[in-house]
Amino acid sequence: MKEMVLIIRPEMLEELKSILDEIHCGGMTISSVMGCGTQKGVVENGVNQIKGFKTTINLLPKIRVEVVVEDNSVENIITSVRERVATGRVGDGKIFIRNIEDAIRIRTGERGNKAL
Ligand SMILES: Nc1ncnc2c1ncn2[C@@H]1O[C@H](COP(=O)(O)OP(=O)(O)OP(=O)(O)O)[C@@H](O)[C@H]1O
Ligand SMILES: [Mg+2]
Repeated sequence: MKEMVLIIRPEMLEELKSILDEIHCGGMTISSVMGCGTQKGVVENGVNQIKGFKTTINLLPKIRVEVVVEDNSVENIITSVRERVATGRVGDGKIFIRNIEDAIRIRTGERGNKAL
């Protein structure tokens, strides 16, 4: 199993939910977060001004989606996200992937893929 953490533009959440529904994911956890990437949140050239202090980092609203999936779903999700969630402009987001050792459905005690 793999956990995929996808950080995307808020307006792309519905499309990502459709992709995850199509691969029959067992569940997902979604949070509203603030973040920046390599542009440090700078939308236009110049130094940002926040509450009177000069700063070189600005945080933009993003959506963080955590989903634990079977190993063989990972590449399908990446392909669909690249096709349907990318706009081609900076700030489209990122996907981070890590191994998940085990999963347990608390109600039944099922383990591993069966618990997803
Ligand atoms: N290295 C990172 N660690 C943690 N979160 C990150 C990292 N890079 C990006 N993020 C998160 O992803 C969001 C979107 O990042 P973004 O798409 O701007 O990345 P980027 O590297 O600047 O790529 P691009 O040049 O396409 O904009 C950020 O606002 C932040 O929440
Ligand atoms: Mg960026």
